[in-house]
Amino acid sequence: MTNPATASTTATAIDTPAARFDIYAQVHKGLRACMAATLVEVGRMDCGDDQAVKWVLDRLDQLLDWCVGHLQKENQFVHPAIEARDPAASLRMAGEHAHHDASIAQLRDDADRLSRAGGAARESAATRLYRQLAVFVADNLAHMDTEESVNNAILWAGYTDAELAELHAAIVAATSPSQLAVDVRWITPHLSPSELAALMRGLQASMPPEVFAGVAGMVGPHLPPQGRRWLAFELGLPALAPHDDPLAIVERFIAATFVRFDAGAAAQWVTPDFVAHPWAAYGLPPGPAALEAVVPVFGNAFGEASAEVIDHMIDGDRVALRYVYAARHVGDLFGIAATGRRFRIEGICIVRLAGGRVAEYWREEDMLGLQRQLGVATLLPAEATAA
Ligand SMILES: [Fe+2]
Repeated sequence: MTNPATASTTATAIDTPAARFDIYAQVHKGLRACMAATLVEVGRMDCGDDQAVKWVLDRLDQLLDWCVGHLQKENQFVHPAIEARDPAASLRMAGEHAHHDASIAQLRDDADRLSRAGGAARESAATRLYRQLAVFVADNLAHMDTEESVNNAILWAGYTDAELAELHAAIVAATSPSQLAVDVRWITPHLSPSELAALMRGLQASMPPEVFAGVAGMVGPHLPPQGRRWLAFELGLPALAPHDDPLAIVERFIAATFVRFDAGAAAQWVTPDFVAHPWAAYGLPPGPAALEAVVPVFGNAFGEASAEVIDHMIDGDRVALRYVYAARHVGDLFGIAATGRRFRIEGICIVRLAGGRVAEYWREEDMLGLQRQLGVATLLPAEATAA
C-alpha cells in the first residue's frame, strides 16, 4: 500500500509565516487527530465483541468518508487555484490523491472482510487492517506536510490572505452539514487555545447569534471542562457554562477585566458595592467606578494577555483560585516604561460572590517575578506600594 513516490520520513519543514492565512492548518490538524485516534482504536479492538468491532469499523468508515471528501475538495478548489498560478504544480499532489483513493478502497475491502470473518480469521483480518491503516496514516502525514509546505508556498506567493480566506469559505460552503459536524468533532478539541478562539470569533462574526449558539453547542461537549469554561467566558457563551457556576462567573470577570480589558463588560459581573481590595488600598471607590479607573491602566500596559485557572476551591460564597497570568508589556506600568517583553506569573485570589456576581476579592501575585521577567532591577516605587 505504500506509495514509493510519496513516502517520506523527513518533514519538508518550511515555516508558516505567522501572518499568512493557512488554508490547510485547521482541517489537517483535525484529520491528524482522527487518523491517530482511529488507528489506536483499530489496534486495541476486541475481535470477540461484535458490538465493539462494529463501533470501531463505523469510526473507520467515518474517517475514510472524511478523507474522500477532503481529497475531492482539494481537487475541486485548491488544485485549480495552484494551477492558475503555477501550471502543473499540482500534478504530484493529484497523483498522491489518486493513490490515497486506491488505499481507501483497499481499507474498505479489508474492513468488510474483517466484519464477515469469525474466530482466528477475524484476528488475522484485524492485524492486517491495523497495519494497512498505519501505512495509510503514515502516507497521509507525509502528504499533508508537503501540502502545508510546497502548496502553501505557491498559494502565498500567488494570492492575498483575503483571496485565500474566500477560497476557504467556498470550501466550507460546499461541505455537507453532517460532514461539518465531523469537522467540529475532530478539529475544535485539537486546536491550540488561540487557534480555537480565532476560529470561534470568526464564526461568531459571520453568522446570526442563534446559529452561532447552535455551533457553539456542538463544540462545547467535545472540549475538556476547562476548555469549555475558557471558551464560554472568552466568547460570552452562556450555553457552554451555566451562569450560576461560581467558577465560570469568576473566570468571566477575569477575562473581561484582565484579558480583554473591557471595563463595561467587567461591570456586568460585579455588584454595585464591589470591592477589589488590591485597588481599594490605593483609595479607589467601590463598585464599577473602580473598574473604569483601573482597567484602562492595565489595557494600556499589557497586550496578548491570557489568564488560566490551574486550580480552584469553592466553599459557600467563596471561590479560591490559583492562576497563571501572561501578557506582553507594551505600555507604561506604574512608571515602568514599555519593555516589549512577555511575562508569565502565578497568583492566588479569593473571591466572594453575591447574587451571581463578584462582590469582593483579595489577590496576591508574584510581583517580584514580574519585575525580573521585565528586566527591571528595582521593586515598584514606594508610593505605589506603601498603601
Ligand atoms: Fe491532499
